[in-house]
Amino acid sequence: MVKPSVLVTRRWPAAVEAQLAESYNATFNTSDIPLAGPEMRDAMTRFDAVLPTVTDKLGSDVFEVAKPQAKIIGNYGVGYSHICESSARDLGLTVTNTPDVLSECTADIAMTLMLMVARRAGEGEREVREGRWTGWRPTHLVGTKVSGKTLGIIGFGRIGQEMARRAHHGFGMKIVVQNRSKVAPEILAQYGAVQVDTVEELLPQADFVSLHCPGGAANRHLINAARLDLMKPGAFLVNTARGEVIDEWALAQALMFDTIGGAALDVFDGEPRIAPDLMQCDNLVMLPHLGSATREAREAMGFRVLDNLADFFSGRDPRDRVI
Ligand code: DGY
Repeated sequence: MVKPSVLVTRRWPAAVEAQLAESYNATFNTSDIPLAGPEMRDAMTRFDAVLPTVTDKLGSDVFEVAKPQAKIIGNYGVGYSHICESSARDLGLTVTNTPDVLSECTADIAMTLMLMVARRAGEGEREVREGRWTGWRPTHLVGTKVSGKTLGIIGFGRIGQEMARRAHHGFGMKIVVQNRSKVAPEILAQYGAVQVDTVEELLPQADFVSLHCPGGAANRHLINAARLDLMKPGAFLVNTARGEVIDEWALAQALMFDTIGGAALDVFDGEPRIAPDLMQCDNLVMLPHLGSATREAREAMGFRVLDNLADFFSGRDPRDRVI
């Protein structure tokens, strides 16, 4: 039987690449540089499966091909707002993602960010490395206590729940949740969480706000100037979801004028470009999209793509089909 052809758009963990090479007629982008739009469009006409990541923009232009060969887009990652859903649907493509296997690691990074910004760890690290530390003193880099405070979680899917587990059981935090659908009472009870209907209700209650909702047009600038104004003075904002969820200009203003206490971001609108205004803010921690960056999660993500491909090419509905 002829093996299906697959295009892997970035380097993946070695064990997963080996398995892909064995099971498929696999082409790897060994340069590890994101493919340009025309190259991606060309791939739609040459491969049975295209396996992109968050760094590949699959806008409507990529799907404007007369004779598509691609039948499945096996996204390496849980978020898929970089793939134009309506165009993929119009072409009759199956799209899969990799949920679950990165939830714990992404929540770990959200916790890391929350602790770093509250305890001014980023500022401290910069001070030590730059040789500016002059020694211990009672008033030096005094931060904010995390334990026992209220955490507002926007988006209560798998990652949001892992964040709640850590914050509630590890740090005794009170959890307030906003989610697009009603969360089952037994799930809320696991984290001592209370659900509110709107972001407007959540923001004024929270000492920390952590974003775990999907990106894409529906949530673009969900956190804007008006909503930043609703946050408690001194509260902190954490984003491990998608950059576009925050209006970064409004956030930079809020940080520069100390309307909020600080922010910590793992994701950026238009990343890896960072808005120059954000670069000016000392009360901001920034990481280079590390949410799922552990050996364990990155391998598991790859094998999850392989599972989805195996299902698809054997005529079964892939377990992680999103389109
Ligand atoms: C995801 O899975 O969506 C991450 O942001 C990238 O892997």
